[in-house]
Amino acid sequence: MTLYPASPRDISSFAKRLRNGEVVAIPTETVYGLAADATQADAVAAIYSIKERPQFNPLICHIASLRMAKQYGVFNETANKLAKEFWPGALTLVVPRKDNCKISELASAGLHSLALRCPSHPIAAEILRLAKRPLAAPSANPSGRLSPTRPEDVRRTLPNIDVLDGGYCEVGVESTIIGCLGDMAVYLRAGGISRGDIEACLGEPLTDVPTEKGDAARLAPGRLVRHYAPHVPLHINCTQVKEDMLLLGFGADAPADVADNLSETGDLCEATANLFACLHKLDLQAQAENKHIGVMPIPHHGLGEAINDRLSRAAEAVDK
Ligand code: TXA
Ligand code: MG
Repeated sequence: MTLYPASPRDISSFAKRLRNGEVVAIPTETVYGLAADATQADAVAAIYSIKERPQFNPLICHIASLRMAKQYGVFNETANKLAKEFWPGALTLVVPRKDNCKISELASAGLHSLALRCPSHPIAAEILRLAKRPLAAPSANPSGRLSPTRPEDVRRTLPNIDVLDGGYCEVGVESTIIGCLGDMAVYLRAGGISRGDIEACLGEPLTDVPTEKGDAARLAPGRLVRHYAPHVPLHINCTQVKEDMLLLGFGADAPADVADNLSETGDLCEATANLFACLHKLDLQAQAENKHIGVMPIPHHGLGEAINDRLSRAAEAVDK
């Protein structure tokens, strides 16, 4: 990888590369982010692959302004108030996805909500302005490792990724995450902006993530192990189409009458990019036709591990 000095030319070339679906590391005021165009599912899949995440956690999508954020998410009064006070800055808001939201379902890990943040780092802001796309960006480190706050940390731990050098990150910890999905503002992750500052802005205390499962599902879906389960029973490791089943195929050996195929060439990155969108589609079709969903076996290496993690949770969820 190369460290780019963040001259105007480098910034504009990174913005172009992001629009072309590449994954690059960029500075933000909290930590360095591993960024990709959030509207391109295959680019988002590449983030998971590079980080070697064993699960698909939903990713934070970065936007240039509150106006841009409102193209993708629904802002209630609380969300508006917090965005106006703390954006640009180290605050992420989880809001409902808008109908026809162009951000890939993989970035939301199949949830109906979306995590949005408007960063204040001038280089991140300029890239967002030039790219004119929302950028999904988790911290630029391999899964389970420390978040990088210096470009050299990214270079050491993700040697194949090009990094735009924005110096050391001012905040140094990830953003604070607040859930704005219902009447209550929920404190989902402590981070760069203190709880006290947020409560002072709202004029009332934040709600903690409930421990009771039903409430947790409603208020903080991203914190649950199971992010998405279809409404109909889902079975894994199926190889044949049965009468009461829609089969989601994988690879070239799939039977001809599969309902859909995650990747006809058996490409795990492509399968990841298609996963949540395919499940949503088949879920609707299966409900309408009163059928179950079956999924063909997915190899357990690379991104296959994350796909199998999601599928087995979805299968378990409906069996109970
Ligand atoms: O400071 C930051 O926030 C850094 C920089 C790069 O901006 N980004 C970052 O992103 O930490 P990420 O993708 O690693 O944060 C993901 C976390 C998830 O683990 C989850 O807790 C929360 O954000 N999250 C994302 N989408 C969510 C959703 N729809 N509902 C609830 N939580 C969500
Ligand atoms: Mg992280």
